[in-house]
Amino acid sequence: MTLFEPKIVALLCNWCAYDGADAAGRARLDIPPHVREVRVMCSGQVSPGMVLKAFEAGADGVIVLGCQPGDCHYKEGNLHALKRIVLLRSVLNPTPVDPQRLQLDWVSAGQGHRYAQVVRDMVKRITALGPLPSGHFREER
Ligand code: FES
Repeated sequence: MTLFEPKIVALLCNWCAYDGADAAGRARLDIPPHVREVRVMCSGQVSPGMVLKAFEAGADGVIVLGCQPGDCHYKEGNLHALKRIVLLRSVLNPTPVDPQRLQLDWVSAGQGHRYAQVVRDMVKRITALGPLPSGHFREER
């Protein structure tokens, strides 16, 4: 029996979440190896197409991490991200793809512990859900 090892894409805003991930690394916190981090300038830059592309490319889960509300360097980018992710999750809802596979959260630059916890929670959630059902975002191989 092979153990399911989830693949998770984390889209991290450059100004807060990416530094939070860096802080977690510098502190040598326990971070699961299942996450592929992609730096974006702002969580508000993350389009539905980027999220769907990550699923199509093989991700079992996608997490978008931006600055805490009120701290976005582009003023309201993270609020735009919130609206987009809520909409995208509602689009996923009637499909066999569980909306829990897409998460949005906030991590500031100094919150290495928060970053590590958010990632651990996501890995736990996706591990419980199992692999993304094939045929919805990716072709059977
Ligand atoms: Fe971080 Fe906008 S710059 S969410």
